Amino acid sequence: MSSHLMPTYPPQPVTFVRGEGTRLWDDQGNEYLDFLSGLAVTGLGHANPVVADALNEQARTLLHVSNLFATQPGEDVAATLDELLGGGGLVFFCNSGAEANECAIKLARKFGGRGKHVVVSAYGSFHGRTLATLHATGQPQKHEVFQPLPEGFRHVAWDDLDALESSLDPSVAAVLLEPVQGEGGVNPATAEYFQGVRRLCDERGILFMVDEVQTGLGRTGKWFGFEHFGVRPDVVTMAKALGNGVPIGACWARADVASAFEPGDHATTFGGQPLATAAARAVLGEMRRLDIPSAAARAGDRLMAALAETPGVAEVRGLGLLVAAQLEEGRDAKAIAADCLAAGLVVNAVTPTALRLAPPLNVSDAEIDDAVAILTKVLA
Ligand SMILES: Cc1ncc(COP(=O)(O)O)c(C=O)c1O
Repeated sequence: MSSHLMPTYPPQPVTFVRGEGTRLWDDQGNEYLDFLSGLAVTGLGHANPVVADALNEQARTLLHVSNLFATQPGEDVAATLDELLGGGGLVFFCNSGAEANECAIKLARKFGGRGKHVVVSAYGSFHGRTLATLHATGQPQKHEVFQPLPEGFRHVAWDDLDALESSLDPSVAAVLLEPVQGEGGVNPATAEYFQGVRRLCDERGILFMVDEVQTGLGRTGKWFGFEHFGVRPDVVTMAKALGNGVPIGACWARADVASAFEPGDHATTFGGQPLATAAARAVLGEMRRLDIPSAAARAGDRLMAALAETPGVAEVRGLGLLVAAQLEEGRDAKAIAADCLAAGLVVNAVTPTALRLAPPLNVSDAEIDDAVAILTKVLA
């Protein structure tokens, strides 16, 4: 069958038609263990019945009224997110991770004022594909064909406080960092780094913005990745897991920062509409009921310990259930990921030499053992 899709994604040998929990089925009836969760999205597993029921009920009640009118599901989700983030903040809803970061960048510019607009981020980071978030993304090879990009972005070496300090001048409005660089290869920050960034930002009146699009909502074994490092950011962005597959993103900011926005400064037609926020409300309710961060921490320990024992794996890194298996020299991660897929395990090559594993946060011990058994066979 010829495809009518733009060639932005490489062709894949399988077409998935159904999912349930950690399992996927393709159009040939083959079953797979999904240890990628749609890139850290389906944290509660595929076809989660609580989320499906919430969507069904909301679809039959009220789908959309535009942001000219607030609706209850959005208010409920914003209140829960603020509580999980320690309180004292306000939320803007959007539809994706890039849009959540776009909101953060615009907020930093408005809060900083004219001349204090630069956002500093790290090499190896990933913050999105819109023109501004692409420039925030610290991967110059992704920039070149789209030049000129919006100005006001600067990149520094990852996890290097001296490099960051020397980049901070009065034009800097904000520092934007991931707690674990996800797309960059699953590289966790250190507590010393995040604490040092917090101190520098406080000393110089700069916002510390944390991109929790991939790490947020239990993925790292805590509600938010920054909690591992004993700091509180001024701005937090999230998306992926918030809707368990329903597109929704959010930008949270300290109330005094958020108040820099006035009506008309920022908006989106679909952001925070009742269908998406009904899904997010169900997701957050289930995550709380199941204590998903603790479950992810426990499961992450099991997965990392098993991978560390797997022949062909040189190193295991990550936090909670955001894990990379660095392969031994000479191994091609793309080829191994393709072999895993053929053997019934979905993972991806996060770098040319490392696999990323990010199963649902409620993955069972047996599913972890089965996934590692498939990988072991493939690597053998
Ligand atoms: C840390 C981080 N920020 C932002 C994004 C962009 O999110 P989206 O693809 O929903 O725009 C991603 C996507 O992988 C991400 O991992």
